[in-house]
Formats: sequence, C-alpha cells, structure tokens
Amino acid sequence: MRLSPHHDGAARRFPSARRRVTAAVAVCVAGLVLSGPATAVPERAAAAPAAGLPYQDASLPVADRVNDLLSRMTLDDKLGQMTQIEKDALVPRSDLAAYRIGSVLSGGDSTVSPNNAQTWADTYDSLQQTALATPLGIPVIYGIDAVHGHNAVRGATLYPHNIGLGATRDPALVQRVGRAVAEEISGTGIDWDFAPCLCVARDVRWGRTYESYGESPELPSAMTTFVTGLQGDTLGAGPASVLATAKHYLGDGGTTAGVDQGDTQLSEAELRAIHLPPFKEAVRRGVGSVMLSYSRWNGVRSHADRYLVTDVLKGELGFTGFVVSDWAAVDQLDGQSGFTGAEISTAVNAGVDMVMVPHDYKKFLGLLRGEVTAGRIPQARIDDANRRILTKKFQLGLFEHPLTDRSFTATVGSAAHRSLARQAVRESQVLLKNDGGVLPLAKSARLFVAGKSADDIGNQSGGWTVGWQGRSGPVTDGTTVLQGIRAAVTDPSQVTYDRYGNGIDSGYTAAVAVVGETPYAEGRGDRPGGLGLDQEDLGTLARLKASGVPVVVVLVSGRPLDITAQLPDWEALLASWLPGTEGAGVSDVLFGDYAPTGKLPMSWMRGASQEPVNDGDGKTPLFPYGYGLTYGNAPEPTPTPTPTPTPTPSPGACTATFRTASSWQGGYQAEVTVENTGSGALTGWSVDWDLAGATVTSLWNGTLTTAQGRATVRNAAFDGALSPGARATFGFTATGTAGTPTPHCAGT
Ligand code: GLC
Repeated sequence: MRLSPHHDGAARRFPSARRRVTAAVAVCVAGLVLSGPATAVPERAAAAPAAGLPYQDASLPVADRVNDLLSRMTLDDKLGQMTQIEKDALVPRSDLAAYRIGSVLSGGDSTVSPNNAQTWADTYDSLQQTALATPLGIPVIYGIDAVHGHNAVRGATLYPHNIGLGATRDPALVQRVGRAVAEEISGTGIDWDFAPCLCVARDVRWGRTYESYGESPELPSAMTTFVTGLQGDTLGAGPASVLATAKHYLGDGGTTAGVDQGDTQLSEAELRAIHLPPFKEAVRRGVGSVMLSYSRWNGVRSHADRYLVTDVLKGELGFTGFVVSDWAAVDQLDGQSGFTGAEISTAVNAGVDMVMVPHDYKKFLGLLRGEVTAGRIPQARIDDANRRILTKKFQLGLFEHPLTDRSFTATVGSAAHRSLARQAVRESQVLLKNDGGVLPLAKSARLFVAGKSADDIGNQSGGWTVGWQGRSGPVTDGTTVLQGIRAAVTDPSQVTYDRYGNGIDSGYTAAVAVVGETPYAEGRGDRPGGLGLDQEDLGTLARLKASGVPVVVVLVSGRPLDITAQLPDWEALLASWLPGTEGAGVSDVLFGDYAPTGKLPMSWMRGASQEPVNDGDGKTPLFPYGYGLTYGNAPEPTPTPTPTPTPTPSPGACTATFRTASSWQGGYQAEVTVENTGSGALTGWSVDWDLAGATVTSLWNGTLTTAQGRATVRNAAFDGALSPGARATFGFTATGTAGTPTPHCAGT
C-alpha cells in the first residue's frame, strides 16, 4: 500500500527513476501484446507519454488531473477502468495491460501460495507493474473482502465479526479496528476493502446476519467509524489509507424471511427509515465506494434500480465515490445465466460505475463497447464512471506510490493488533444469564471444558476465514477459547477437556460448554427450517447436565439461536458470537478479568417461528435488543415467559424533544430524545403526542400504542432506567409531513 502523495516516506523505497525505467521496458512488451486477442482488443495505443504531464503532477488539484487524464484516454481505456476481474481469471497476466483493466479483486476463495503476507505483496506488485506498463500508466486498484481482519491471509489478525462489534456499542474501538485492518491490508499492497457491511439484519434466519452490526439502523450507522478507520479522516491523506466500501446497497438485511439475495418488501418510508441511515452516515464520512446488493426492493433488483442508485444515493445523498456491482450480479438481471449487453446497459445506466465481472473480461468488454457504440449507454455515463473511479485512484495516491509499502507488512498478525482484537472480543461478549453468580469463575476452580468449538479456531472465526465459507479446524494462527482458559487458570492440570463431555463427574466446580455453529457464508448460512442447536451439541450438553455440575454455556454463533428449551438447564449463558483469532478475550470475561459490558445487537427470538422479531415491533423476545448483564448485578431471573405489564407511569420529570432526521415526498423520519430532568432516577418513561392525522409506519427503541389520534411510546426494556440528566432516544417514521408536536413526557 502506498503513502499519501504528501508523505515522502515511501519515496525512498521507489525512486521515480527506477519506476520510469520499469515502465519504459514494459511499454515495449505492452506494444507486442496489443496485437494479441481478436475480440475487444483496445485501439492501438498512442506512444508512451513523456513524463511530467498534468495528470502526473501531484501538486495539481485532483479534478484537474482527472480532466487531463480523461482527455488522453481512448474509449477502450475508459471501458477498461470500469472492469473488475478476479485475479485468477487473468490469463495471460499481460491481458491486464492489453485490455486496460482497471481493477482486480480476490474473491472469497482466491489465494496465493504460500499464503503469507509477503507472497500477497509480491503478487500485488507484479500485477501493478503490468498495469503501469500501459501507455498512460494508470495503476490498477485491487479489492478484497477483509471483513473481520485481513481474513484471506493466513496468520492475519481476525477480529469479531460485525455482530460482535455491534455488541460492544463502542464506535471508537471499531474505528481502531478499521485502522489496524488497513495497516495489514496495506502490508500486502492491496488498496480497497469490500467492507464494512452496513446491512441492517432484520431476520436472523439470514445467513449473513453476522455481517451486520445490528437490527436497528442507529447501530450500523454508529459503526461507520470503521470507514474512517480504513480510509483515515481524508482518503489518502495519511499512511495505510485503504478505500472502504459501504455494502450492500440497499436493503440486503430486510428480505422476506431472511432469504439471502431475496426480496425486501417494504414501503419507501420503511426502506428509508431502516436501511438507508447507515449509508447516509457512511457517505457523510466520505466512504469511497458503495457495493450494490443482489437483493430486490419490491421486486426490482438493486443493480437495475436507477432511482435508488442514481437519484437517491448519488443525487439525494450526494455520494461522489464510485458504485461497484457485486460478484456476477449483473448476470442475474434477466433471470438467465451469463450476462448480456442489455444487462450491462441496464446496470451501467442505473448507476453502476465498475462491474465485478469477474471472469470473462473479453466478452464483457466486447459487449460493453457494443452498447456504447450503439448509443445504449451514453458517453457521458462512461465519462462520469471514469471520473469517479479515477478520482479515488488519485486521492489514494496510487499514481505516486503504486507499489506495496513494505513497512506495514510486519503488522500482519502483530502482537499489537492481536491485543486490540482481544479487547474487541472482551467488549463483544454478552452475558445473558448468570444464576447464582456462577460467573466469574475462580482461577483455582476445577473445570471441565467441552463442546465442538472449545478448541477450534475455525469455528470461532466463522465464514470469510482463509476461504469464503471458512471451515472447522486449525485454519490459521491464534488462541482458542480452551487455550485461553488454560492460560488463565492457576493450575492448567485442573482443566479437563473432552469435546463430547465424556468423563465428567460431580467433582468439578463447573462445566464450560463451548457450542454453537460451524462456519458458513452468505446463502449457505440461511436457516429457513429452524435455529436450534445441532445434535452433537445437544448430546454434549445432556452429558454435562447429567453430572449435576453447574453448566456455563459459551455460544459461538453468527446469530441468536433457538435455545429457549435448553436455557433452564444452564446456570449461565454467554453469547460469544464469532470472536476470531483471540479466544483469550472470552476467558478474560469468564474469569472476571473483564466484567462483561456487551449488549445484544439483535433481539433474541423465543423460537425461529417468532422471526422476524425486532426492537419496537410489539413482540416479546426471549432477550430484547440491548439486553446484557454484568458482574455484581443482583442475580437476574430468566425473563418471564409472558410480557410484564407496562407500569402506568406516575408523574416524573422528563422532557421529550423531536428532531426530523429526514423527510421525503409523503413521509418523514423523526428522532426523539427523552431526558430525565428531575432529581431522581427514572425506571421508565412514556412520551405521547397528537398524531394530527399522521400514521407511524415503523418505530425503534420503544413500544408504540395509538388511541384517539394520539401516539404513546413507552421505553424499551434496555432504555427505561434514566438517572438524573440521562437521555434515551427512540425513532420512528410516519406518513405526512414532519410537524413539531408538543409531546408530553411522563416518568416512573
Ligand atoms: C460476494 C459478496 C460480497 C463480496 C463479493 C466479492 O458474493 O456478496 O459481499 O464483497 O462477493 O467477494
């Protein structure tokens, strides 16, 4: 990865003289290749430009450099910039120059051999040298899914997946994670991270639930700090600046029944209220790219939705970066396999700037060229796409420092990054049950550890781990939960492990069962048929229960699971999510070196049939959004199976302030801040106001009732308690135009 144009750190590594010589030699090579393949071969290139042209001058404004470069580009140069291909599809490698391809990616299973940081950096540099050998020397931009660390690279630091980071409620931590991930990505040369996923997962049967920071928009919105971590405050302004991607636009987490790549059937008001806010915040933070969603909104595929992509994202939100399609998503538009010129036109005219083809680039470029020359894609659209892409390449500093900054290569899997990851694991743990104060465990305790995920770094890392789907077993370097436990106790010989619980007896202080899910990614993780524990886990838990020893369950999963029936047999339950390589962060909480602070990012259903269940929808989950215990609490009883009646609020001193967050034709979104203005603590509050004929269409962080034209919102389980001066917020969307109601607030 390069340093910024303003940073001379890397200049010592790549003296411009050496780069110019390399480029000159390669131009001769490129000239030979141009007479190669028949279809879609770019026009014969002009002679290599002399150095010192305006677009090569880093002291000029980026817009001037873009204009100058565009004026020198042929149509084929421009079409190549809009083309992204899988590294392994590039055969021969010289086609990168011959077809002027502007971007390369490594998909989930794309790797290098041996799989280590140095080999990734060498691979990147070799590709970049090929790209620089084109007549205009436009550098390639290389993208990868580093969605919980630089997860393609064996030995990289892996952090909790987003669902765990959402549980931390710590945006500043997430920003630090983004910065650390950017350093490891930069150490391998790569420029662009297809992250963060800003999906708002509304149905945990969805296989990508773990890629979501939370079910209510304010949580993914808060965690867009990851964008700033990756890019820096300004893209390219500091070392190890990596282009971020807000994905998947729009509504991927809202499909009916949580079907991956399904249909999100919502009104515009609901779509805007629930799924748009995180993208709005990412744009405000200057995110450089947006990846579209495979899913549909009311039957229209996002990749074909000009209204959402061009009018809303680029127009209304003012997004000035570039839009990239998802992997072979253009192929899906006509419902047939493969892609056609018509599908390419539909996607590009909807607002796609770069197409993740990702394989048959010759066919793609031939069809794309045909659509432009036939006038079905305006030249202005091609120029706009190029302007967006080139602007990011200039801002990243790719033209000045196109090769790996090897000073970051040693950060891959570094002790400092692993320490940060361990902190993230600690903060992500959510304590859901702790009867009798069985936790924290004493380090002198005699413990029996069981479960398929107790000693399995693959299970605790989940999908997108040294392979698209991830897998069980020793897939990479790190610390398992069991290793963390053994390192924490006074005498490791007091810790017995058997995966299945065989050999346990009543002589143990406690049993720790680490159970849950094995790795999966995307649609392969969809669970339409139920979310219960698997037979192995149930058998292990039964053995532990039969011993009479208190059972502490550590649930390693990408989402809430259906454990209602088993919960009474457990003294404690810790939701661990998918912690990544630093399993010692879990034992830090088990032994009380860190008291749990995590809060549920998703409502925990009573059973799969209750899905979708989300905060404010009027349903009563097993554990509500925002729930989480810590140590020192009075023992909390497991939530009662029937909803507790909301107490009639007695007068208490609180105020409610309305703020219109956004509005559109026929609807608006409001955020309401409730403040305890009295001298005593509140245990609950309610806010009511005259609807003036409006209808509330969705609401979060509270419970809504309406009567006689008035709306009443009562606190959610997690935000009722307010000390003097403390505040809570809830939000809603409504039809009509935003008013300035005079709310009445009552505290209890
Ligand atoms: C996948 C995913 C997307 C990822 C892309 C490239 O199918 O939907 O999140 O960034 O392909 O790997």
